[in-house]
Parts: sequence; C-alpha cells; structure tokens
Amino acid sequence: MCGVVAVIGKQNASQLVVEGLKKLEYRGYDSAGIASASCGKLQTLKSEGKLINLINNLNQISNAKLYSDPLIAIGHTRWATHGNISLENAHPLTSENKVAVVHNGIIENYETIKNKLISEGYVFKSQTDTEVLPHLFMKYIKLGNNFLQAGRLVLKDVKGAFAFIAMSLDFPNELFVSRNSSPLAIGLGDKSNFVGSDAHSIDHLTQKIIYLEDGDHALVKLDGVDIFNEYEEKVNRKIINIKAEIGLITKGGYKHFMEKEIFEQPSVIPQTISTYINSDSRIKINLNKLGFKNKNTLLILAAGTSYYAAMVGKYWIEHIADLPVIIDLASEYRYRKPSVFGQSAMLVISQSGESLDTLMALRHGKELGLSTNAIVNVEGSTIDREADFSLYTKAGSEIGVASTKSFTSQLVVLFIIAIALGEKFNNLKPNQIKKYCNYIHILPSAIAQMLNMENEIKLIAQKIKNAQSIIFLGRGLLYPLALEGALKLKEISYIHAEGFAAGEMKHGPIALIEDHVPVIMFLVSDGNEDKAISNLQEAYSRGAQIILIADKNCIQKASFAHFKIEIPNFETDFKSFLSPFLMAIPAQLLAYHIANERGTDVDQPRNLAKSVTVE
Ligand code: F6R
Repeated sequence: MCGVVAVIGKQNASQLVVEGLKKLEYRGYDSAGIASASCGKLQTLKSEGKLINLINNLNQISNAKLYSDPLIAIGHTRWATHGNISLENAHPLTSENKVAVVHNGIIENYETIKNKLISEGYVFKSQTDTEVLPHLFMKYIKLGNNFLQAGRLVLKDVKGAFAFIAMSLDFPNELFVSRNSSPLAIGLGDKSNFVGSDAHSIDHLTQKIIYLEDGDHALVKLDGVDIFNEYEEKVNRKIINIKAEIGLITKGGYKHFMEKEIFEQPSVIPQTISTYINSDSRIKINLNKLGFKNKNTLLILAAGTSYYAAMVGKYWIEHIADLPVIIDLASEYRYRKPSVFGQSAMLVISQSGESLDTLMALRHGKELGLSTNAIVNVEGSTIDREADFSLYTKAGSEIGVASTKSFTSQLVVLFIIAIALGEKFNNLKPNQIKKYCNYIHILPSAIAQMLNMENEIKLIAQKIKNAQSIIFLGRGLLYPLALEGALKLKEISYIHAEGFAAGEMKHGPIALIEDHVPVIMFLVSDGNEDKAISNLQEAYSRGAQIILIADKNCIQKASFAHFKIEIPNFETDFKSFLSPFLMAIPAQLLAYHIANERGTDVDQPRNLAKSVTVE
C-alpha cells in the first residue's frame, strides 16, 4: 500500500506535496513524511500517525520558509509492512542526507542487499526494506554515475513489487521514478512536473496524466519527462486528460464518511442502473465484449467484500442463466495452476481497481488465455487499464475504508450480467427480463426503506457493543451477507466476528455457542426459511442471544428470538431474489453503530488501508 507523491518545478513544492498526500491517505495512515531540497540542503519532516500530525508539525516549524521555498519535494503516507510504526521507519528514507526515497511496495531481496551495504559501510537507521534504495542510489552516484544511470543500476539490484520516487542533492532538478506492479502516474505541467500513486493525488496540479507501465522507469525534470521501458529503451506513453474532482470530498454533515456512504446508496444505485439498463428495460451489456460467445463456465475472482459480491453473483448467474460459475479468492488463484477447462472468460471485481492480489489474478488469467473483464469503481485504475473490458460501478469516490456503497453497486452490475447471460444462454423471456429489470428499478426505494430501520438497529448495537465475539448466520443468497456482516463488524469495531452458512453450524461452529453470545441471522421467506430457523433454534437452545433481522413471516415463525427487527413488506419474489441488497443495509448499519458506540476510528480503522497494493 502506501502513497507516494512528488512535485518538481513549482514554488511551495512541499505544501503541494502535502495536498497530494491528503488524497492518498486511503493507501495508509500509519505515518507520513516529506523531503524537500533548497539551498543545497535536504530537509525531511516525518510524523507518526495520521497526516494531520505531519501538517501540524509543518505549521509549527518556526522557519516555515525552509518548507515553502523548495522547488522539489517528495512525500509519503505509510501502511507499515517492514518495521513497526515509528519515526525511524517513516518515509522518506535517506542516505547521508543527500538522497531521499519514498516507496510503495516491497523490496523482496532487501536483506541480502542490506547486508552487503552494511559490509560496505552504509549505516541503516530503520527496519524497513525501503532503506536499501537511498543507500544504493548513494553508492552508484558516488561511483560517478548520473541519476538515470544510478537508478538503472538500483533497478538491476532490487526484486519485488514497487513504485518509488528518488531525489538527490547531486541532481537537484531531477526525480528518478520507477514502477513494477505498483501504480504510478506522472503529471505534466508547465515547467513543472508531478508524480503520484494515483492521478487524483496530482489532479490539483495538472490534468495531463501519463500512467507508467510495469517495468518502466523515468527521469522527471523541470522541463520534461523521459520514460524508458524495462529494456532501457526510450518510450512514449499515452497522455490522458483527466477531469479534476472539484475540491476534497466532504462528510456532508455526517459524522463519518462511512455513514454518509451508507446513506448515499439510494442515490448512487440509480447511476449504476442507468449505465446498464435502458428506460425500456433493455440491457446495455455487450456479452461478446465480455468474451461470452459460447456457453462456458465463468470464473469470478476478487478479495474481501468484493469476493462476497462474487459469491452472490454466482448464485444469481447459476439460477438466472443456468451457467456454471467458479469463484475464487484472488490471492489463492494466482499461486496455483488452475484448470481452465470449459472456461473462456474471467471477471475480476475490485472497488479500487488496485488490489494487487486481484491484479495478479487477472494477469494470471490472461496468461492462461482467458479474456479478462473487470467490475471496478475507479476508472483509470490499474485493473481497469489492464482488463480487456471493464464495467464501472459508478458509485462515486468511497472514502471510508469499509466498503459499503461500492458493494451494493457491484451487486447491481452482477445482477444485470446475470440477466444478460440468462437472455443469451437460458432463453429468458422478455416478460421475465422485464420483471427482473423492474425489480432493479425498485431497489433504490427499497434500500431507502431499509435505511429507515436505523434507529432499531442502533438499539441492538447498544445492546451488543460489549460482546467478545459475534456470530452471523445466513443461508443461500444470505450466506455471503453473513460473511460480509462479520467482515464489516470486525474491521471497524475490532470485535471478533464470524459468518457461517446456517446449515454448517452443526458441523463444528456450534461449539462456539455459550450463554449470551450474540447470533445474528439475516432471513427472508424464500421457501427454505424453516431450515434456517431450525439452525437458529439450535443456537438458541444452547444459550445464544438471538437477533433476527427478517420479514414478518420469519419473525412470526421464530418467535423465540430475543431481538427481532422486521424488514418492510416487499413482494415475495423481489424479496427473496434481491435479499442481498436489502440485508446489506442492516449489516452495514450494525457494524457502523457498534463501532461508533465503541469510539473506534470508523473511517480509518487500525492496520487497514483502502487500497491494498501488497500481496
Ligand atoms: C472490506 C473491504 C475490503 C475490500 C478488499 C478488496 O470492507 O473494503 O475487504 O473489499 O480489500 O478491495 P477492492 O475491492 O478494492 O479490490
């Protein structure tokens, strides 16, 4: 993870870098730092914790001029991998106070390099893998190499997935940058240039962006940028014009971004819907572009919440399109030799479009000859650019680390894909298509009705906020929601939570039940509800505190539940088919209110980052 940013050729370079870092905090917030050069001196400033600490430090420095004058500065926001969270391990890492480097990714062979450098007299001050980079630069510069040559020698030494920016007092008008599997964008200005982990981090400075490709390195100067591929051949990469987002996204009166994003769902989902369905219920997804010419098995890969969306997608596609679907965790798929028998296309799902596990899985699928498709929220992200074809979720920027609106918009796209596949391969009749499309159109108001249940959910949150462990149960389409409910809860409240398929409880997990353990079940009448209620009864009999979030019929049947939240009255078929959308809301609200009650950092929970760019 980690975010890197750099400015060259503009007054107040440090301040401009800090502006960029504000937009990169989603990549990590364990520590932050900047380095700048002016009057032949390298200045670094670092702070532990969130960026605001660095900003406060910067504001307090009496000799603020030191930081307002430089024309060159680099900055970093960290998600710790090697070395604990400390000032020493915060970036920029330096060598002999002449070279400074900011880095995102992992240098896999750093230990060997570090031992060699130590034997050559270099002194290491941090436990990071990154620190080998400034020392290697220093070593090659001392041997008489210019910055470009030194950088190339460094690249020959290091292995891993990384994006880094280096500056040196010996070359005060140049930045050396390189990318290998981690994203890096270069922005072009007027006698000034910029670098950032994503385009958004520099869109306050320019709208002309070049994305480096894997293996590229570049010398970024005041008056131009020279880009080279892995064979050191000079290359031209496409210049893209991006639209700058106006200002920073605000919480709009909500206490947290997560809360705001939960409540945005009724207004965001219509954008996703209108992208893929015409007003006359015609689906605008071109299956041929998705690589679906024949009736083959579809492979879906993703991580975390996006993986749970894939699980729901599998149920829908198999049911509506009668098409086999294989799903896998992206991080597992990449490191085995999967059979592609009967497969022609893969679909990866990623909100950020940057999850390295998912990107690597996509590349693996490509190598295996599959056509590659992506459902992404961030247009222009690495996965978007590398996939043969992308479908955008159009959820808008999601700032809270916990995925909420991006999950439900991924579900919308998956449901529409299921209908499109059903039409092509399962003889879905126009009236059925129309019925499904109507369901989709009802969704925003159905979600708004579910949001009205907030107060009841808040009361439950207050009752169970001190639990040591919470169990979520679901069956069928709501099994993935049990997993999602548990993930949401653990990541922001730090309460241990597990999700299980209700029928699996008796095969082992029921041993976890003891007096007062909260067991939360999401349930709608779908013809199989009696089985789920029996599973719930088994937990009740062993002392669990039962919380049932369900429709009227199920609530009546499971009258033994300690707390019952009745969802609004929806048409039976709609409710059973689209229950994942409905239950996503209580799952999100419950996690949010429990975390809020416990006073955790809801938007930036410990140890996490919004974009997971390490394996
Ligand atoms: C959970 C969450 C994560 C992400 C996962 C994949 O709330 O946000 O589990 O879903 O890291 O991220 P993307 O979708 O960006 O690939």
